[in-house]
Amino acid sequence: MTPLFAELPAEVSIYEVSPRDGLQNESAYVTTDGKRRLVEALVAAGLRRVEISSFVSPRWIPQLADAEELARSLERPDGVTFSALVPNAKGLGRARAAGLREVAVFLSSSETHNKKNIAKTIDETLAVYREVTAEAAREGMRVRAYVSTVWGCPYEGHVDPRRALAITRALLEMGCYQVSISDTIGVGTPRQTRDIVELFLAEFPASQLALHLHDTRGTALANIVVGLELGIRDFDSSVAGVGGCPYAPGAAGNVASEDLVYMLHGMGVKTGVDLPRLVTAGKVAAALLHRTLPGKVHQAGVESLKA
Ligand code: HMG
Ligand code: MG
Repeated sequence: MTPLFAELPAEVSIYEVSPRDGLQNESAYVTTDGKRRLVEALVAAGLRRVEISSFVSPRWIPQLADAEELARSLERPDGVTFSALVPNAKGLGRARAAGLREVAVFLSSSETHNKKNIAKTIDETLAVYREVTAEAAREGMRVRAYVSTVWGCPYEGHVDPRRALAITRALLEMGCYQVSISDTIGVGTPRQTRDIVELFLAEFPASQLALHLHDTRGTALANIVVGLELGIRDFDSSVAGVGGCPYAPGAAGNVASEDLVYMLHGMGVKTGVDLPRLVTAGKVAAALLHRTLPGKVHQAGVESLKA
């Protein structure tokens, strides 16, 4: 039997989604200045890839209607990439005009969630993304992608992961540099994660894949360990565990960034992130949202670790 943790990587890459995945799901509107302070605190903690907002319809996601103002208000420190969701060419144009060099497209592996989230069939969405990726390539912009509901759909239940595999193939063929396979509603368990990740790794190199795991049922870290063991090196997370998808009822936030960093550092895997500063960023998020957020390390703090 292969020993556990025999081949852990020296370092992994964390893609922070709290300003987008986190704030899109909040009923309270966070001001542009508040969002800017959150992004700055995340960058100060050492995060190098941050999804700052969404250039989607402001009628669908009013919380992020200030994407332009936010993008323009941010300094661009060396080595830091800011990205944002775009659902179509209009979103790409807005992101480019606001100075972004990277965007993320998104669709679902279940038709019902896709329809509720972006009002199109999966095939129609892929056709739109062929235009978006072609235009992004002409502009020298990088495109990341998400495939949602891979572990399960809030409307359809179990989804055959081969549907997500086919969508991922299409997204990579059209030029997306990485696809983040997503457990939108946080239903995944480790053996299922092994089966899904192995299916994907049989066809694509690990560098083209990431895991985006909502932590609704507390299984995200266990699923990340499985992904890590199998070779995945890119993980999405959200500071203090804030977030969800407004069109996926009952979904909690992504795995908390502090919990992920705490676990990885404890396993000897570097992230480039300073945990105490990340906890400070989580406190910024909690202050903006006027409540304690769900992340475990966010709640426990790091003071007790200093002895
Ligand atoms: P639609 O109503 O079919 O759009 O929505 P449309 O093309 O018919 O246009 C309707 C109006 O929206 C028009 O304005 C357009 O100009 C405008 P009007 O003429 O009526 O004044 N519009 C836009 N405005 C600004 N920016 C744009 C844009 N596009 C159209 N980019 C649409 C289709 C895709 C626009 C809509 O469904 C939408 O914006 N959906 C976004 C939903 C969303 O952001 N969901 C959450 C993110 S996904 C997620 O959380 C999952 C993820 O985290 C992974 C995981 O966890 O699984 C990524
Ligand atoms: Mg999400």
